[in-house]
Amino acid sequence: MKLRVRPARRLTGHAEVPGDKSISHRAALLGALAHGVTEVHGYLEAEDCLRTIAAIEALGVEVTRKGPGEFRITGAGLRGLTEPSDVIDCGNSATTSRLLLGVLAGQPFWTMLTGDASLRRRPMGRVADPLRRMGATVVGRGDGAKLPLAVRGADHVTAIAYTLPVASAQLKSAILLAGLYADGPVTITEPAASRDHSERMLRRFGARVETARGGVRILPSKLVATTVRVPGDISSAAFLLAAALVTSGSHVTIDAVGLNPTRTGLLDVLAEMGAKLDVAGGETDDEPIGSITVSASELRGASVGGALIPRLIDEVPALAVVAAVASGRTEIRDAAELRVKESDRIAAIARGLGAMGARVSERPDGMVIEGGARLRGALVSSGGDHRLAMALAVAGLVAEGETIVEDTACIETSFPRFAETINALTGEPSLVTEA
Ligand code: S3P
Repeated sequence: MKLRVRPARRLTGHAEVPGDKSISHRAALLGALAHGVTEVHGYLEAEDCLRTIAAIEALGVEVTRKGPGEFRITGAGLRGLTEPSDVIDCGNSATTSRLLLGVLAGQPFWTMLTGDASLRRRPMGRVADPLRRMGATVVGRGDGAKLPLAVRGADHVTAIAYTLPVASAQLKSAILLAGLYADGPVTITEPAASRDHSERMLRRFGARVETARGGVRILPSKLVATTVRVPGDISSAAFLLAAALVTSGSHVTIDAVGLNPTRTGLLDVLAEMGAKLDVAGGETDDEPIGSITVSASELRGASVGGALIPRLIDEVPALAVVAAVASGRTEIRDAAELRVKESDRIAAIARGLGAMGARVSERPDGMVIEGGARLRGALVSSGGDHRLAMALAVAGLVAEGETIVEDTACIETSFPRFAETINALTGEPSLVTEA
């Protein structure tokens, strides 16, 4: 599939984005492990999160779809999962595979996990290592560091204190989930704060989770079913915000979007770049939710690194588009993780935006973007990475002439109806999907 992109006159109006991907995965997994029936509202029905639903079903959990985004999960309890009769295919979804590995570390049976070509390239050793220390057996390709992997949980999960080698919420969450089964408190120290959806949701399901600066501790806990309302995904909203900021005359509000402070790094950077941006809403019991309004703005470059990186790691492709047209230089550093996402995003951004006239130079841990580019339409490819596909489409909206983004079926992994949402804001068929 491909997207034919025509320059947009402007984007105006209100939009909502589909449910948060990270929160949806966690709702399904915790619902599966809880006692009782969990109702989930606003679940992201995109390929990645449907993989997690299929995975818990394969482990014996009953899931009923009540309507769009509405799921009822009859929890099996911590000890009620059953051995799947076939390999579980996690598709493109690292969150499915890594969080599931944590759950499986506590199951007294074998499970086989695999994924698509992109996921089979991604590092799993970082998850397998601490789980082995907790007593799980993880074997597979690359000495147990790449999918396909086979996992046999420990009969007695050993509590550990562990320092994460990278600020990764997937890794942290896998250890937290295994910690539910441990024989004592499990303590995790992070080099920088990563998204804390697991901590918040574990508490909502009744787990004993304590957070302190630089770390988190979980005590063995039983989970009790609850109701989860999934806010809109700020990582999807990022593409609409970027499009509105760089297209003159635009004024857009994204409603009902998640504003968890561990996810809003992009908003901080955009404000620093001079974006006209207004955020309304805020804290609730578990996940903050609100609206974000932006207007087309004169933007300048920024320097982005350190503890900010985990707070905007998925938004770098959208940020790169903004930086390419802003005036001045933007530097992104401390972001080597981008090289092991759905694609090598540092190389992919440099290649894709470069083909459209942006000046992007790669660094081992980031990139330097010389702003002020007049983007021109080009034939580019997502390389199978959903966030690259959407970022290049947004670049096409401000480019001169027509852009064709190839390999765009992957957008389904996180943002179904992306093209329709953009077109509703531009009021014209700016993005046309073609076979
Ligand atoms: C996610 C964590 C991040 C992020 C990914 C989703 C999560 O990955 O990039 O899209 O749901 O925990 P890492 O934990 O590997 O940084």
